[in-house]
Amino acid sequence: MKVYLETMGCQMNRLDSELVEAALRAAGMELTDDARGADVLLYNTCAVRRHAEDKVHSRLGWACRRKADGRRIIIGVLGCMAQRLGEQLLRRHDGLDIVCGPGQLAGLAEMIAAAGPQPKVALDPSRRDGPPGDDAVERLDAGRDAAHTHLPGQAYVRIMRGCDKFCSYCIVPLVRGPERSRPSELILAELRRLVDAGVTQATLLGQTVNSYRHDGAALADLLERIDGVDGLRRVRFVTNYPADFDRAILQAMRDLPTVCEYLHIPAQSGSDRVLRAMGRRYTRSEYDELIDAARETVPGIAIAGDFIVGFPGEREEDFAASADLIRRSGYKNSFIFKYSPRPDTSADKRLPDDVPEPVKRRRNGELLAVQEEVSLAGNRQLVGRTMEVLVEGPSPRADRQPVPAPAGQTQMLGRTRGDHIVVFDGPASLAGQYVDVEVTAATALTLTARAATPQAR
Ligand code: SAH
Ligand code: SF4
Ligand code: F3S
Repeated sequence: MKVYLETMGCQMNRLDSELVEAALRAAGMELTDDARGADVLLYNTCAVRRHAEDKVHSRLGWACRRKADGRRIIIGVLGCMAQRLGEQLLRRHDGLDIVCGPGQLAGLAEMIAAAGPQPKVALDPSRRDGPPGDDAVERLDAGRDAAHTHLPGQAYVRIMRGCDKFCSYCIVPLVRGPERSRPSELILAELRRLVDAGVTQATLLGQTVNSYRHDGAALADLLERIDGVDGLRRVRFVTNYPADFDRAILQAMRDLPTVCEYLHIPAQSGSDRVLRAMGRRYTRSEYDELIDAARETVPGIAIAGDFIVGFPGEREEDFAASADLIRRSGYKNSFIFKYSPRPDTSADKRLPDDVPEPVKRRRNGELLAVQEEVSLAGNRQLVGRTMEVLVEGPSPRADRQPVPAPAGQTQMLGRTRGDHIVVFDGPASLAGQYVDVEVTAATALTLTARAATPQAR
């Protein structure tokens, strides 16, 4: 059986897809990139914005039409949107066979094998029914194929599931369930297996990763244990939540050689009024203090953020406060989103979506322009520096290079410890390796560099 799996959404979803692939391969199925030639079409979905869901509906429309045309295919929706809409998806898409929530993916191979005239729906228990047992989900994580990670030498590692913050606009707590931290022994065992298979960089995942706590160990303690894993060179952790941010995490970043000087810590808005309406549990000045502490404790730290523009009630002065926050924080980059009302969230129930679409679009563009200016200024500071990059592979733009790479080389793409994107000419065999490069030019998005010699392994 040939399976096509397409992934939308965040890093957590990408990790889930990787685990699903391992489970399906173990069950004797074959993965393919060719949707048209596949026997099984799976979509691992995101529910965070309307746009993400629209894309899935259009994919499902396409898939169900193929089935209606007489092709014998199995169609499944996985992940956050499956959890949000459940049976409703079956009513909207005639021909859909499988709806599987994010906590039920361990049973997906059996669902595919058992697919028949009756569609199968497996959803996570509602939050009201109390914390779910994680045994089934752990089975999925435990079946991980350490040799197949999303990039050579790199792996995502889940350290938490779910979220309890309930930001007023956000669907994640409703689809990913309550916040639970994984035991550090499991995380460490998984990391050791990954390192044995050649991984040197781990990205620890959680919706509010700084709230990690298990058996009295907090994130800073976990980082210290992870730093002791032989062969691991880089560790990052995303995403951070700005309230209750333990300063020990910053000290860990300063003192532990593996912990990268990189902090993704979304503010969402620079205005106290909007932060309150969003149900974020910090003020602008607390956020500013945290950024100051990060810059003071960790020299050279790269900070990234997220913003939502056009949140209900956002006035021009609130928007200006977000632009000001980008300048003040000096983010390396920010992800900027237009507010998208999500059914069943408290913002959608209580607050009218009153910022008109053209205003959202303008604010989105203006904020992007401010961020671009800040990113460019930051990147220019790096010109002339020698930096270590972990090479991901050939750059997707390699064929559009103004000056072609020398014979036997191609434009390669790598990332610094601060997650800056660097392109340089080198042999394709560098993928997964560390290289010292000298930065020669900068744009807002990319550093261009001259390859020095690869580091000895
Ligand atoms: N747990 C992470 C990220 C959650 S979702 C965090 O708290 O930072 C990723 C990003 O999507 C959020 O940071 C937010 O900027 C954006 N987002 C979430 N819900 C949204 C909505 N309803 N409309 C627009 N953007 C949204
Ligand atoms: Fe959503 Fe807020 Fe949780 Fe992030 S912290 S996942 S934005 S509820
Ligand atoms: Fe991630 Fe989207 Fe789900 S952001 S947790 S895939 S709703």
